[in-house]
Parts: sequence; structure tokens; C-alpha cells
Amino acid sequence: MDATPLPSPAAFVGLGTMGGPIAARLLGAGHRLVVHNRDRAKASALLSAGAAWADSPREAARAAGDGLVFVMVSDGRAVRSVVFGRRGVAAGARAGALVVNLSTIAPDESRAIGDRLRAKGLHYLEAPVGGSQEAARQGQLAVYAGGDPADLARAQPLLEKFASRVDLLGGVGLGSAMKLVNNLVTVTTVMLDAEAIALAEAMGLERERAVDLLLAGGGQSRMLANKRDAFVRREYPAQFKLSLAHKDLGLVARAAREVGAPVRLSREARRLAEQAIDDGLAEQDFAAVYEAVRRRRDGAAAPAASGGAAAPPGP
Ligand SMILES: NC(=O)c1ccc[n+]([C@@H]2O[C@H](COP(=O)([O-])OP(=O)(O)OC[C@H]3O[C@@H](n4cnc5c(N)ncnc54)[C@H](OP(=O)(O)O)[C@@H]3O)[C@@H](O)[C@H]2O)c1
Repeated sequence: MDATPLPSPAAFVGLGTMGGPIAARLLGAGHRLVVHNRDRAKASALLSAGAAWADSPREAARAAGDGLVFVMVSDGRAVRSVVFGRRGVAAGARAGALVVNLSTIAPDESRAIGDRLRAKGLHYLEAPVGGSQEAARQGQLAVYAGGDPADLARAQPLLEKFASRVDLLGGVGLGSAMKLVNNLVTVTTVMLDAEAIALAEAMGLERERAVDLLLAGGGQSRMLANKRDAFVRREYPAQFKLSLAHKDLGLVARAAREVGAPVRLSREARRLAEQAIDDGLAEQDFAAVYEAVRRRRDGAAAPAASGGAAAPPGP
């Protein structure tokens, strides 16, 4: 009989828009995976493809032994809940296990989580990702890692199954910092595009043509290319939920406050995101801010109800 123990499966907690395809890449590459998601229905395709189910993050971590536990949930509060909750990862992981946090959270939140895990004899690597759901499916994400190089070396073979580049930015906190810098630009860019397109139409230009000419000129960006069809069709199936984009701009503002750096444009973008959330668009893709801009544009253009003065301009 072969006495060599089989390597433990990796655990994966959080199977939303990004976690689902990332876990599928790991499974497709031949890694054994035990998965958990609050809503079990989102695990069904992975379970059909051979992943094992765990009833809680604790059970998933227990199955991974002293191996790797990936966490991909919405925000810092959700990470703390799945890691430190009563049925959380920390309650099931064996000493030496490595928790790899893929979620976008604040640098200081990430450092605090790492400190708590280390105090329990566990390792922690932050590895927030850049790129869309499609990039996850294609294995083309970017990983902004922060932590110990030895921990990254352990995780690297798995990270490379869903990322085309992995950069270690420094200790825990710096990976999250780079992720926020990236999202300051990507999220604010899409909001600027939304305003530009709404302005183009208001001046009598045809929307699709304006979008395509932006893409053909100096206004082009990868983000606008990604959102082209959403803007043209005015359909916003969630790739990156507006609520999460708003969360990230909040994290940018918080991080910038701590170091005294000005982020005026992303502050305005966050206000626009808030208006769109007030309009009921939180669960749609964040390109739906275009609808919020249009509503305010059209409201601003309408004659004032009384007094004869024009309504104030939109955002
Ligand atoms: N979408 C993108 O393009 C993109 C790109 C890069 C980075 N990110 C970041 O990646 C993370 C995940 O984003 P996503 O787009 O995959 O979000 P999503 O589709 O909204 O999925 C969120 C996941 O978090 C889980 N969750 C939320 N709150 C929880 C809680 N309190 N306890 C346990 N589980 C909880 C959800 O579980 P349920 O399914 O049970 O609700 C779901 O698995 C976020 O930090 C986001 O900022 C997203």
C-alpha cells in the first residue's frame, strides 16, 4: 500500500461573480478543491465539476488542513466574518495553513486580519485581483500581492492558474494599496465616460458613434472598451456591481485621508455612485451610473416647475 499521504485539497470560500470562475480555473487545472458559499446554489456547477462541498468556512478550512484557504468575498466585514466567525476559517484551519485573501479590502483592514491570523499560528497573504469576470475565466487576472515572499511562493502555482501576472508589492497592506490605486483609476474612468457620453447625446451626437469615436481616439481606455456594449445598449448585467465600485471608492477615500493625499476626482465619482445607488442601481454593473447621469441631465434640462429659474445642473 502506498503510504504517501495525498496532499490536502485547497479550500475556497466565496463563489460570487469572481470567486466562481477563479475556483473553476483551479479545478480545471486539476487541483482538488473544497468549496463553501453562503448561498449554496452558486456552488452547483463546481460541485458537478468535482469540487467537494463544505457546510461552513470552518469545515472547508478543516479539509484543507495546513494547506491553502482562498477567500473571495465582498468587503472587509465579510472577510472578517468568514475568517473569524464562530464557524469561520480560523476555527478550522490547522497551524501552518495559509489564508489567501483575494477580496478588495482596505490596507489597514488587511494588516489587522493578518496580525490576528499570525497570532493563531496561521499564515496570511493578501492577493486582491485586477480584471473582469471574463479575465478570470481566461486566467488573465492580475494579482497584487502583499505579504511574506515564502507565503507567496506557496500560493504562486495556484495563483498562476487564474492570473497572467502576479506582483509582490511588499508586506501585507501594499497589495491592497495597489489594488485601490488601480480601482481609483478604473472606476473613476467609467464614471467620466458615462458623463462624456451623456453630454455627447445632449449636444445632438448619436450615442453609439460617440462611444466608438472615443474608443478610436485619445479618449479610449480598456475600461471603455469593456463597457462599450453596456453604454450602447443601456443594459448593465453585473460584471462589477455598482455597490462594490462604491465600496472601493470609499476605501480609496479612507486610505487617502490616512496619508493626506488628495483624491478629488474619485470623491466626485463616489458622489455619482451614491446618486446611482439612490436610483436603485446598486446590484447592476457600475456602468449603470450612466443612467443616473442621464436622469439628472434630463431633469436639469427640463423647465423648472415654478419660478422660471432653470433647475441646477447635474453632477
Ligand atoms: N467583479 C469584478 O469585476 C471584480 C474584480 C476585481 C475584484 N473584485 C473584488 O472581488 C470581491 C468579490 O467581488 P464579486 O464581484 O465576486 O462580488 P459578488 O458577486 O457580489 O460576490 C460576493 C461574494 O461574497 C459573499 N459574501 C458577501 N457577504 C458575505 C458575508 N457576510 N458572509 C459570507 N459571504 C459573504 C457572497 O456570498 P453569497 O453568494 O452567499 O451572497 C459572494 O460569494 C470584492 O471584494 C470585489 O471588490 C471584483
